[in-house]
Amino acid sequence: MKLTFVGAGYVGLTSAAVFADLGHKVWVVDVDKEKIKVIKKGKAPFFEPRLDELVAKTVRPEDDGPRAHKAGNLIPTSSYREAIPEAEVVFICVGTPSKKDGETDLSYVFSAAESIGKNLGGGYTVVVVKSTVPPGTTEKVAEVISDVAQSTAKFDLVDSPEFLAEGSAVKDTLNPSRIVIGASSEKPVRILKKLFSSFKSPLVICDIRSAELIKYASNAFLATKVSFINEIAQIAERVGADVTKVAKGMGLDDRIGPKFLRAGLGYGGSCFPKDVESLLSFSNHAGYEFGVLQAANTVNSEQYRRFIEKIKGRLGGLRGKKIAVLGLAFKPDTDDMRKAVSVEIIKSLLKEGAKVSACDPMAQENAKCVFSEQLTVNSKQLRFAKDVYQALKGADCLALVTEWEEFANLDWEKVKKLMRGNLIADGRNLYELEKMQKLGFDYFGMGRN
Ligand code: UDX
Ligand code: UDX
Repeated sequence: MKLTFVGAGYVGLTSAAVFADLGHKVWVVDVDKEKIKVIKKGKAPFFEPRLDELVAKTVRPEDDGPRAHKAGNLIPTSSYREAIPEAEVVFICVGTPSKKDGETDLSYVFSAAESIGKNLGGGYTVVVVKSTVPPGTTEKVAEVISDVAQSTAKFDLVDSPEFLAEGSAVKDTLNPSRIVIGASSEKPVRILKKLFSSFKSPLVICDIRSAELIKYASNAFLATKVSFINEIAQIAERVGADVTKVAKGMGLDDRIGPKFLRAGLGYGGSCFPKDVESLLSFSNHAGYEFGVLQAANTVNSEQYRRFIEKIKGRLGGLRGKKIAVLGLAFKPDTDDMRKAVSVEIIKSLLKEGAKVSACDPMAQENAKCVFSEQLTVNSKQLRFAKDVYQALKGADCLALVTEWEEFANLDWEKVKKLMRGNLIADGRNLYELEKMQKLGFDYFGMGRN
């Protein structure tokens, strides 16, 4: 089929490359010309496991560009005029960030809709909203397109939310847990069923608003699960239990399941925080106060403070202390710094007079940009180390913030020699409690001692 993905981010580019690899002719259009330039060279403009090789394999080289990669079905462009008219299905995958009051900023979605509408050809097109949008938005997108499209253009709108997670985006796109199609007529459903026929995933076919709500309900539920286990961690500490054991015992009940029961520093990233805020906001507008979710949100925003307080307590204050922060990305296997808890942690440490030496295997460059924008004072107290051992040199405390695999098996004898102090603050329960204590460290995790 002929497909277009609007927005070359985690969702748009990954889906585009996967469908190109499956043999479809795929355009990926983005307003960011720099991103398109990078993709044209056969590379992903951000770090995502396996995406680089898939883009290299599928991208169609420019006539004058390097020909290191073989010709393929993926056509990157910043021109809607090139990407839209021939497409049978157009996917809207632009970002939907939060405004200050938590409401969703839909301006990118509507501006993409307008550009799509103006360029629709004479045939029939299915326009699929993949971006996460509050119920009712997809209908508004249809109006925006109608207002600007030629009278001969025929199209239907569908909402089909995306559930891929960063770090496993390619794998998730190839094996979706479910495919949700929210539509108000048969024809677009038929076309999408054909497109998705190579996937073995269960299909959920429903009305448009239910499809829109499925995405928020899913992310909010998972976020609540994380906050729930973080509260159990609080109790565990107070009653002398170990939250990792409690989570294991809970997770074996298949009504609960083992995933999203890792206590730690709370959830971050480009989705959970904004989707929780958005659901709270549109629930409110609909006249309902979503109490459970409000509580989950509050627990999450407090979580990092507990970590800081514990470090402070063990070190007897933070002024002049050197803290090695291991991990900056919002989770491992990504270089994404959006709503990464490391930012709040480092800002608090600096504010309290500590010196920070930070490192991350992938997100360091993005982190430097974030901090150069956000830090006005104390910036000299923050250093980025070239590797974990340099970060640990002379440190009073190792603060584990993102559980990258390479932080799991450190040379502990070397660590002991390098550090000035012996405090290990494990924000993600990455290390074994007994092992750390045996090695002679002053160790604490989250919810287990
Ligand atoms: C997606 C979204 O669809 C979001 O609604 C959902 O909640 C999470 O997944 P993501 O792929 O993570 O977002 O977004 P991002 O990586 O920020 O990429 C969005 C892309 O859209 C960017 O490359 C941006 O340049 C592009 N864009 C944005 C456009 O092409 N046109 C616009 O008008 C705005
Ligand atoms: C999430 C959803 O999982 C995905 O389906 C949706 O499409 C986009 O949002 P993502 O943001 O990439 O994906 O990451 P995810 O793996 O879900 O983790 C989100 C946050 O929760 C991370 O900060 C992670 O550290 C935290 N988390 C996750 C925990 O603190 N504990 C857990 O047990 C699981």
